[in-house]
Order: sequence, then structure tokens, then C-alpha cells
Amino acid sequence: MPPDTIAIAADHAGFEMKNLVRDELARLGHTVLDLGTDSSESVDYPDFADRLAVALADGRAGRGVLVCGTGIGIAMAANRHRHVRAAVCHNTSDAKLARLHNDANVLALGARVIGPEVAKDCVATFFATAFEGGRHAKRVAKMS
Ligand code: RB5
Repeated sequence: MPPDTIAIAADHAGFEMKNLVRDELARLGHTVLDLGTDSSESVDYPDFADRLAVALADGRAGRGVLVCGTGIGIAMAANRHRHVRAAVCHNTSDAKLARLHNDANVLALGARVIGPEVAKDCVATFFATAFEGGRHAKRVAKMS
């Protein structure tokens, strides 16, 4: 798959929102790689964060979306991988600044703390916003 593919993954708490994100990304014209989970059966969010991190590392996808109950646990797990910059976003300002200033490559959402419309707005904003570079580039480089 080309690097403009967007990988998505979630635990059981994020399963339904992950499906909504998949449909929204497709509606916006993106190619989506769905890495599960595939039901509401309880699973461990680090396993799905790892799946997504591996997909970015091996080139199956260039960016990603992770969903768990809060977005926090799955972002923490993903950020253990040096090539991942996952940002938990609760609104479009978060999503915009995570791209502009932090060059976030993974959007993390909390299905138990934001609603579906906010999630869709975050997805649209995150993937439509380019990294600003400039003074932010050296700071982002220091993270890797
Ligand atoms: C699962 O119950 C929940 O703990 C998980 O989805 C997430 O919110 C952890 O950060």
C-alpha cells in the first residue's frame, strides 16, 4: 500500500468509533488499513498500538488513527515507538496544532470522552493540516 494510506486501530472501547473513523476517512478519499480490533470483546490497547506502529515502520501506512476509551493509554503505548508521534485530541484546535507544531503522525481519540461528530471533525482537520516546519522542525527532530 502507498505511504498515503492511513492505518487505524482500536481496543474494544474504541471499536465503534474506529469504524466511524474508517468510514469518514473513506468518505474523504483516503485509503484505509484497518488493523482491528474487530469486535467489542475485551482486548489490550498496547497490542493495537503496536500493530499500528509496525504498519508505519514497515511502510504499509504513512499515518494513523488510534482509538481507546480515553485515547490516553493507546497513545502512551504508541509513543513508546520512536517513529510515532501520537497526539490525543479532543477538538479541532488540538488536531490542528498537533499537525502544525508537532508534526503528529498519529491521531489518538477517546471514544468515551468525545462524541462522533467531534471525532469526525478531528479526523478531517488532522489529515488536512500540514506541518508548519520552521522553528518547530528542530524541536520535533529532538524527539527522535
Ligand atoms: C479500557 O477499559 C480502557 O481502559 C482503555 O480503552 C483506555 O481508555 C485506556 O487508556
